[in-house]
Formats: sequence, C-alpha cells, structure tokens
Amino acid sequence: MKRAILGIVALLSTSSAFEVAPVTDESMKSGCVDCHFVYQAEFLPKASWEKMFEEEELADHFGDKVELSSGLKSKFLAYYLENASDVKNIKVTRKINRSLPKNRTLLRVSKVPYIMSQHEDLDREMFIDNPKVKSYANCNACHNAEDGEYDEDDVDVPGWEKGFFFGWSRK
Ligand code: HEC
Ligand code: HEC
Repeated sequence: MKRAILGIVALLSTSSAFEVAPVTDESMKSGCVDCHFVYQAEFLPKASWEKMFEEEELADHFGDKVELSSGLKSKFLAYYLENASDVKNIKVTRKINRSLPKNRTLLRVSKVPYIMSQHEDLDREMFIDNPKVKSYANCNACHNAEDGEYDEDDVDVPGWEKGFFFGWSRK
C-alpha cells in the first residue's frame, strides 16, 4: 500500500510543473536586475558559473560590464556553485548535464543543447523577430522565469497563441 501511494506521488510529481527555486535575495537581484532577471544556477554546470564570475569575464559580459562588490560576488558564487546543474540531482539537471558539450564551457543558458531542443520546433519569429522578446536569452518574456516556473503549460509568448491542433500562430 505504502509503495502504491509512493508510486502515485512520484507520478504526480513528474507530471507537475517544470520548476527551479527562484533567487529571492534582494541584494543578489540588485546585481543583475538592471539588465535581466537572475538566471537560476540549475541551468549551467559549476565550471560555467566559475568562468562567468572571473574578473575578465565580468569586465566583458556579453559586451557589458558587470560591477559587483567582492561581498556580493562571493554570495553569487556560493549560490551558483551550490546549485549548479552538476551539483543538484533533479530531472532537469540530469537532462542538461547529458546534453552539455564536453569540450567547451558554455556561458549561455540559451545555448545549452537541452534548452535549445525545447525551442527548436518553434518559429524563429516568436523569438528574435518578436519586438517583445528579441532574444532567446529573454526567458522571462515567455516563462515566469523570475519565479523559476518554466513549465510548457504556463508559457505565454507575447503576440502568439497556442492552438489546440496546429500549434503556435500569431494572435
Ligand atoms: C550591465 C548589464 C548586465 C548586468 C548587470 C548583468 N548582465 Fe548578464 N547579460 C547581459 C547581456 C547584454 C546578456 C546577453 C543577453 C542576450 O543575448 O539577449 C547577458 C546574458 C547573461 C547570461 C546568458 C543568458 C543566455 O541564456 O543566453 C547569463 C547566465 C547572465 N547574463 C548572468 C548574469 C548574472 C548572474 C548577473 C548578475 C550577477 C548578470 N548577468 C548581470 C548584461 C548584463
Ligand atoms: C519566445 C518565448 C520563449 C522564450 C524567450 C524562452 N522560451 Fe522556453 N519555451 C517556450 C515555449 C513556447 C515552450 C514550450 C514548447 C512547446 O510548446 O512545445 C518552451 C519550453 C521550455 C522548457 C521545457 C518546459 C517543459 O515543460 O518541458 C524549458 C525548460 C524552457 N522552455 C526554458 C527556457 C529558458 C531557460 C529560457 C531562457 C534562456 C527560455 N525557455 C526562453 C517559449 C520561450
């Protein structure tokens, strides 16, 4: 009986929302929020986060300069290294890790092959050419990314709607 109940709980939890814990610490948010939400640690492995927070990387972060106090930088590193994809063992991190290239250290969540595979059937016009989205990195435009909710049932693509039979089309 106990086994059966555990089985049901397991089934329910695998079909439930695709979620990761959001970053709620206000000081951490203040370090990134001028430009974008705080990407969650689970989407990249430790080596990626370590590289991203090296001085020379922060000085040229996708063409921008990120300035952090040393206290805040340590706080970020502690969070990212404790919750990275190769530290946390949950369904999504296993999928991410299996997809990662062996010979490169990715700095973009949007370039993680598993994440790309989730979007590859979607029209490029929903992303790059969509004035309300503009970038594959702009997770928050379509997902409640800031709250850590990425489930496909909660996606809202600005200007587009999902039909029952024919997939996505312009509103
Ligand atoms: C001064 C602006 C600025 C600040 C501050 C900033 N970033 Fe960025 N970040 C960018 C830009 C620009 C991109 C590229 C966005 C794009 O391609 O659409 C980016 C992209 C990223 C990406 C890759 C997104 C993807 O999946 O392609 C990560 C991860 C990232 N930033 C982490 C951080 C973290 C963590 C912080 C806070 C410590 C931070 N950034 C602060 C400007 C900034
Ligand atoms: C233009 C809107 C858009 C942007 C931007 C976007 N996504 Fe998505 N994402 C979607 C849609 C739509 C789906 C569902 C695909 C489908 O309907 O088949 C999806 C699916 C996913 C899934 C799979 C969810 C599930 O339930 O299986 C994950 C994980 C995900 N996205 C993560 C991200 C991350 C991380 C980013 C930013 C780096 C991002 N997405 C950016 C629209 C977007």
